[in-house]
Amino acid sequence: MAPDPQTLLQWYDRHRRVLPWRAPPGRLSDPYAVWLSEIMLQQTTVPAVKSYFEKFLTLWPSVADLAAAPVEDVMKAWAGLGYYSRARNLHACAQLVARDHGGRFPETEEGLLTLPGIGPYTAAAIASIAFGRRAVVVDGNVERVVSRLFAIAAPMPKAKPLIKQAAAQIWPQSRSGDFAQALMDLGSSLCSPRRPACSLCPFHGACMAAEAGQAELYPVKAPKAERPSRAGAAFFLERADGAVLVRTRPPKGLLGGMTEIPGSPWSGDFDQTEALAHAPAPANWRRLPGVVEHVFTHFALRLTVFHGAAPAKAKAPEGFRWALKGDLDGEALPSVMRKVVAHARAKGEA
Ligand code: ADE
Repeated sequence: MAPDPQTLLQWYDRHRRVLPWRAPPGRLSDPYAVWLSEIMLQQTTVPAVKSYFEKFLTLWPSVADLAAAPVEDVMKAWAGLGYYSRARNLHACAQLVARDHGGRFPETEEGLLTLPGIGPYTAAAIASIAFGRRAVVVDGNVERVVSRLFAIAAPMPKAKPLIKQAAAQIWPQSRSGDFAQALMDLGSSLCSPRRPACSLCPFHGACMAAEAGQAELYPVKAPKAERPSRAGAAFFLERADGAVLVRTRPPKGLLGGMTEIPGSPWSGDFDQTEALAHAPAPANWRRLPGVVEHVFTHFALRLTVFHGAAPAKAKAPEGFRWALKGDLDGEALPSVMRKVVAHARAKGEA
């Protein structure tokens, strides 16, 4: 029995998650809200996104408001969500939509693809969820559901185009956005990576992997490459009035445009004994016990933290600035740097 899209839509009508960016049943969502949520949901989970989504909508209720905001404010509001090029592209995209499209998002996948930060997945998601167009939307959850429905044997990422083709075969003409979100909800609930609840699934009887008792085997994974590790040092310099020395990272690249505690480059063969050569200024540097660990997509990082004290009138060296006491929380500090600050505060007192 082939999977019937209507069965899934009926399941969705009863079990859909209530999420802040979703319109009530039978209505299309506001394109601005759909776009914002989809950018945030790239590489970030639904629970982590919810409060950021609500904060952004309160700060900037429309795409024109977001376009008019200084990019630094957008980076600050994004701090903690990770993958910061998304925030920069978000702002650039808002400005383009406001300036060149009269504040309205294009309705087609092709039109949406011309905007910064919008790739094939996001274009399909917005076209279907906000504009009701038929577009095949495949994220990680959808990949899992579809690879199981059709027992797609190729390993990831080779399986991706096959999964998209298979999804297209069952994708309905109408209610495309609901169908996409139904697959996402199914993937995040019953069709879980481990121990899926196949007996409760609306596709029960139509899922090739489940029929073979092998749902957990899909999607087939390629053997995992090991994550390389890098190390470095961070220098937490605190002035007598409580100000902390920081700098802004270059706009492009990892954590582009975000604030950081000064530090050494991060490398695979970092020499601990040479760490102080990278200090931003001379000080009574004291190495704090323990390390800060953070895992990025492409490498794992271990930072040694040094603590130093500076007199109240100390000037910031060129390229650095003082974040005044109490202002550090309002800086665009990425998670790794929040960990450095917490570590310095916890261990630096001793
Ligand atoms: N992940 C990405 N987009 C989503 C959506 N619209 N609903 C639920 N999870 C999602």
